[in-house]
Amino acid sequence: MITDLEVNKPEPIASGKKTESFNRETDVQHAIEVLEAGNPILITEFYSNGLSLLRQLHAHLNKKHPNTSFLEQRMYRSEYRKLSNLILIEIVDHKLAVKKAPSIGWLEKFYPETGDFLLSFPQVQGLNSAWQWYQKGVSIPVLRNKLHPYYGTYFPTRFEHLVLFENWLKRYEGPKKSAIDVGIGSGVLSLQIVKYGFQKVFGTDTNPNAIIGLADFMGDTKLSRKIELDFGHLFGRWEKQTELIVFNPPWLPELHNLDSIDEAIYYNENLFPDFFAGAKERLLPEGKLVLIFSNLAQITNVTKEHPIENELANGGRFQLERCFKKTVKAASEKTIRDQHWRSSEEVELWVLTHK
Ligand SMILES: C[S@@+](CC[C@H](N)C(=O)[O-])C[C@H]1O[C@@H](n2cnc3c(N)ncnc32)[C@H](O)[C@@H]1O
Repeated sequence: MITDLEVNKPEPIASGKKTESFNRETDVQHAIEVLEAGNPILITEFYSNGLSLLRQLHAHLNKKHPNTSFLEQRMYRSEYRKLSNLILIEIVDHKLAVKKAPSIGWLEKFYPETGDFLLSFPQVQGLNSAWQWYQKGVSIPVLRNKLHPYYGTYFPTRFEHLVLFENWLKRYEGPKKSAIDVGIGSGVLSLQIVKYGFQKVFGTDTNPNAIIGLADFMGDTKLSRKIELDFGHLFGRWEKQTELIVFNPPWLPELHNLDSIDEAIYYNENLFPDFFAGAKERLLPEGKLVLIFSNLAQITNVTKEHPIENELANGGRFQLERCFKKTVKAASEKTIRDQHWRSSEEVELWVLTHK
């Protein structure tokens, strides 16, 4: 049951322990020493005091790691992450206990019964920006209505791949009884599928926030009867064959020693073989398997492998019907940093059928 799903949210830190505080009168150098010794600092008085300490921390680490080499940059980031997470802020009655602070609706939604507690300042910044996106909504060129992405859910910031899918859907003339959207995220592809007249879409995601967020977004509307959700790996509980399966998978192979593993961005070596095996069983004889991908991993020299080309060459299950490509203007900073490559990024829409 979706109502039993547990949302992914920052873990509250118990308040009460005596911590040094930081405000405009505090000596910055001293505050940074406290952090470097592994001790927390509590932001008091104004929200902007937290922003100011973060700025000072950046400046301090920039001096310490002046080099721009990949390794130095990585050390800089990992130290910044460690120290900034020791900067804490107090939450009282679902509000930040400092002046001139943003109001963040997630605090009430996520911690209805938790009294006073602490979160780290970067966590609060993450909650705050996600709340802005959620409230204001995001306009997507191929959709009539705005998306309201839930906290911790992937949503598109570039749209070339959605245009490719839109053009394909426009020309699709097969039956439209049902489709499966693997890794539904904030639901863009499913909304496009519904827009083009499919009666039913079955979506899955391994991220509980994606499922909770979409259930919340659809509420009890007509849409909620068209898009059914399941929290689960790949096809989840969907066993029935459909005429369309779509998957916009993570585009980069997971690297060892990675600082963070984000399942919307990085795939492990089993993901594609398992996906194609499952798709083989669930695609109707005349059905279409549509995958969205990009050459990002190849042009950044992360890997020479292309999981879809691999499947076509060695899988023995599917054959290529068409592959559409579209050049992307600027690389998303969020996806990959500190990599320099020529502006040759392309998104790809692969259409496969049974062999
Ligand atoms: C690149 S995002 C695409 C989201 C959405 N379909 C879109 O096009 O905007 C990939 C999504 O797949 C989900 N995902 C990753 N591994 C998965 C798996 N094994 N099973 C189901 N979903 C998965 C991620 O949580 C994420 O929401």
